[in-house]
Amino acid sequence: MNFRKIVDRVYSAWNSASEKTTKIFHQSLLSEFDKQEIADLQNQVFYDKGVFLDLYREFDKRRAASILSQSIEGYSQKILEDLVNVGITKVERAVPQKDVEEILEFQDRLQATMKPGYGVSGYIDLPFPPHVLAHQKDVFYTQWREILSNENFSCSLKATWPNDGQVRLQSKGMGGVHPPGVNNMVSRPLITQVFSIFGEMNRDTIKQVGRSNTEFIYPAIVNHNTWHRDLMTPQLKAMILLRDVDENTAPMLYAAGSHLAENAQDQMHLYDIFRMSKDRLPKIYGGKWPSYAKPHAIDVPYFLSPDFANTDIPPKNRLSSNLTVGENDYQIVACTGKAGDVVFFDTAGLHCGTRAHFQERRNVSLSDDVYTNPKHVFFEILDKLT
Ligand SMILES: [Fe+2]
Repeated sequence: MNFRKIVDRVYSAWNSASEKTTKIFHQSLLSEFDKQEIADLQNQVFYDKGVFLDLYREFDKRRAASILSQSIEGYSQKILEDLVNVGITKVERAVPQKDVEEILEFQDRLQATMKPGYGVSGYIDLPFPPHVLAHQKDVFYTQWREILSNENFSCSLKATWPNDGQVRLQSKGMGGVHPPGVNNMVSRPLITQVFSIFGEMNRDTIKQVGRSNTEFIYPAIVNHNTWHRDLMTPQLKAMILLRDVDENTAPMLYAAGSHLAENAQDQMHLYDIFRMSKDRLPKIYGGKWPSYAKPHAIDVPYFLSPDFANTDIPPKNRLSSNLTVGENDYQIVACTGKAGDVVFFDTAGLHCGTRAHFQERRNVSLSDDVYTNPKHVFFEILDKLT
């Protein structure tokens, strides 16, 4: 099979799509490939791991060329090289201190009125209907200090169990409105350019990143996240540190290079995520869950079992250790840094939370679910036609 030709045709559909959104590109792909052709390809990719990997890696070659042909205004090319080759990159002092101070102050005020309070993990619920907030966001941004200091203001927490220390405020639950301070971060040129370039668009395509998750990771005895991939195909997240993070302050860990299908474990895991989704799971591995995976409610083996990939790494080993998964070793990149630093990472690579020990971690994570990249949507189409 000529994978290069297939990828050429996907990119031709990409170039002719009037907008680089998932919806529009999806339509453009369906005019380039007919249904039977997709069904035949889907069949081969689904049943033959070799075909899956050849197509997967052909896309990676094309993505690398596309991303590395661009540049970020005023920043080193190494940011893009690391993103392509390692799956993660750190940019120091990338966000102005005033944005950081504003969101920290907002978090402090929420923390003071939150019920139940300190020591409970969950989702923060603001006392405003999302559509009202969306409609009146200018009032919210100019008057949030007065609103939050009103004696009748309080916000609630939808608690999650077990208590893993993670407390989140999602823009998704605020009618798409970002909290104060974060509303400036989402349109900073470095942020929007890296999101645009990662999505293989013109670097000025994305004007504002769509989703934010503002969080606290409090000291807890349960880790909030084991080793996992968010998706099988490329997806960018930006983690902005709001306070200094060291080995004790719950740094996120990333397995370098695990977003590429290069070693046997990654190849198996990525292929399994693709072929085991939805109702297909019982037909593989004799109807059992694969031995390396952590059984998970959503029927896709995104998460590795803690017995297979160690998740409880003590602080003294977080900055300089390797991760062994099956027969494979990875260098761990620990996301420590100073307030205002940004870590960009591809969520198709393995990453893991760690526990906070003395003080909470505070950060904002940005992602975008409207804009896309060619590899992601093409594999999504191959998956959906079953
Ligand atoms: Fe994740």
